[in-house]
Amino acid sequence: MKIKLYTKGYDEELLKKVDNQGGQFTAEELTWLTEQELGRQYETRQKHLEAEFGPGYKKLETVPWLVDFIRAHGLRNIVSLGAGTCGLEYLLSCCLGRSVRITAADFNKFLIAKAQEHFGDSLDAVSFDFFKDRFAEIKNAPFDLAVFYGSAYVMDDDDFVRLFRDIRKSGCARVIDFHGGFLNGRQVLRKRVSSWLDACPRLKAAVKAALRLPPQKDGYRGKFHGYGRSRSALELLYRQAGWEIGEVVSLADSYGYIAVLRDPQ
Ligand SMILES: C[S@@+](CC[C@H](N)C(=O)[O-])C[C@H]1O[C@@H](n2cnc3c(N)ncnc32)[C@H](O)[C@@H]1O
Repeated sequence: MKIKLYTKGYDEELLKKVDNQGGQFTAEELTWLTEQELGRQYETRQKHLEAEFGPGYKKLETVPWLVDFIRAHGLRNIVSLGAGTCGLEYLLSCCLGRSVRITAADFNKFLIAKAQEHFGDSLDAVSFDFFKDRFAEIKNAPFDLAVFYGSAYVMDDDDFVRLFRDIRKSGCARVIDFHGGFLNGRQVLRKRVSSWLDACPRLKAAVKAALRLPPQKDGYRGKFHGYGRSRSALELLYRQAGWEIGEVVSLADSYGYIAVLRDPQ
């Protein structure tokens, strides 16, 4: 199963200005939105870190897990794709020290400029668009590990397979995908039931009345930003790109599905 995902994670009025008739975020739209809404949170390195790791932040548990993986496999040159604020990459570099080179890439030019300004002594922050740029040309390539921290879900199938295949063909033998768009079994079932009910409006009305559900509001659904996929849909894409699924890991608070991929060659 694959579904489209919409976000309301920014000021709704600003989001509507870049809605672009339901189009997916472009680099220009997301860069503008971040600068408008969150620009002041990134004025200094201290503010940048506080904005990233404030109360309720759930991804810290991924850092020791990834540090252990990198050390256990003796990896030395790592790229994170769709790194956003690059806060996690900065923590990784603090833990791993100078012997491991970290490159953090994203198409949000505002965040990449801030990461270079605040964390440039620990990592390389570079501009990279999944849809337009060539993986093998990223600064510091070839890499021995590519990480997607909740970012691969933005790609539709063709781009997903192309980028994952390009990573493998560049000589990078491992990928870790902390998959942000993963739909677990319960979510897949709920979506199936809801699309059956959408196909039978009278049954849907009867079920809603029986369950005393409030009428649905016709508000703004949010900006389209990527795809939710079931496990089988996701794993088909990894295989189409030529990867072997070495291991699937689940962490308690952050990611229910982390694919550890290796090049079978
Ligand atoms: C959910 S955020 C995750 C950010 C970060 N990795 C984290 O864990 O906090 C998804 C990221 O994907 C990036 N992104 C979206 N579309 C992209 C594209 N076409 N090329 C590169 N990065 C993209 C966004 O800028 C954003 O930083």
